[in-house]
Amino acid sequence: MKQKLEDIKNSALQSIDCAQTLEQIEELKIQFLGRKSELNNIRKSVKDLSVEDRPIIGQMANTISNEISEKISQKLEDFNRKAINEKLEKEKIDITLPGTAIPYGTVHPLTSTINEIVEIFQGMGFSLTENKNSPEVETEHYNFDLLNFPPDHPAKDMQDTFYTTLAPNVVLRSQTSNSQVRTMEIQKPPIRIISPGRVYRSEAVSSRKNNLFHQVEGLIVDKDITFADLKGVLNEFTRIFFGQARPTKFRNSFFPFTEPSAEIDVQCIMCEGKGCRTCSGTGWLEILGAGMVDPNVLIGVGIDPEEYTGFAFGMGVERLAMLKYAINDIRLFFNNDVRFLKQF
Ligand code: PHE
Repeated sequence: MKQKLEDIKNSALQSIDCAQTLEQIEELKIQFLGRKSELNNIRKSVKDLSVEDRPIIGQMANTISNEISEKISQKLEDFNRKAINEKLEKEKIDITLPGTAIPYGTVHPLTSTINEIVEIFQGMGFSLTENKNSPEVETEHYNFDLLNFPPDHPAKDMQDTFYTTLAPNVVLRSQTSNSQVRTMEIQKPPIRIISPGRVYRSEAVSSRKNNLFHQVEGLIVDKDITFADLKGVLNEFTRIFFGQARPTKFRNSFFPFTEPSAEIDVQCIMCEGKGCRTCSGTGWLEILGAGMVDPNVLIGVGIDPEEYTGFAFGMGVERLAMLKYAINDIRLFFNNDVRFLKQF
C-alpha cells in the first residue's frame, strides 16, 4: 500500500512537472485528486485496514494529497507569471521614440504690431483707453459730428462709411478718432491716451485696401502742448518702431478735427530714400495722420481751448506691419493662411 502511494505521488509530481497548458493541469488535478482518483480510493479504504496501519496510511495519503495540491498551485502560479511576462513583453512601450509634435500657435502679426505700438506709447506715459470709450459700432455723433465734420462731409456718404440697420445714424466706425471725443467727454485734462481698434470703410478691396483694418489713435490734452511736442513724440515713435532714427517729413494736410494737420512720412525703409517699388519711387512712406486738436472739438466736449491745447494722431496698423515685415498684400492678414501666419 505504501509503495502504491509512493508511486501515485511520483507519477503525479512528474506529470505536473511536464504539463504545458492550463487544461492539462486541470485534467491532472481531476486525475490525481478527484473523487474517482486512486488516492481517493485508498483514503476511502483506510477504514478497512488494520488498526496499526490505519493512521500510517491515512496520514501518508493526506501528506501526498497536500503535496500534489501544492505542486499544482505552484505550477499554476508559474503559468500566470509566464503569461504576465509575455503580455508585458508584447506591450512594451519604447519611451525613447520621439513623440508626435503638436503644432503650436503664434500671435497674429497684427496683434503683435498693435501690442508693440501700444507698449512704445505706454513707455512715453500714455495709457490705454477703456474699451467702453472705443466702440466699433458707433453713432454718427461720435464718429463725425463731435469731430467737427460738417453735415455734408463726403466721408459721411454711404459709399465711404458702413451704415447699419440697428437705428438711423448708427455706423461701423470709420476711424478710431471716436475714442478721442468719448474720452474727453468724461475725462478732463491732463489726458494722455492710446486707443487701438478695428475700423471699417466701404471700399473696394485690393492689395492695399481692406474693408476692415486697424488703427491706433493717440491723444494728449494738457496745458502748453505745442506742435513741437507732437513732432517729438512721433519722431521718437518711428525711431523705436523701425529700430533706428529715420528722417521724417511732416506734410501739410487736412482733417476736420485737427488744425493744423499733418501727414507724416518716414524715409522708405526698403531703399533708404533712393526710390523703390514700395515707396513708388518717392523715397518716402506715409505712416500716419496727426495734428493739433481743433478748438471746436475741445469746445464740443466742454474743454476750454484757451486753457488747454492738445495733439492727436492716428496710424494704420496694417500699413506699419506691412512696412516692417515687407508684406505686399493687406489681404494676407485676413486670409488666415497658416503658411503665412507661422512665419511670425
Ligand atoms: N482719423 C484719421 C484717419 O483715419 C487719422 C487722424 C487721427 C488724423 C488723429 C489726425 C488726428 O485718417
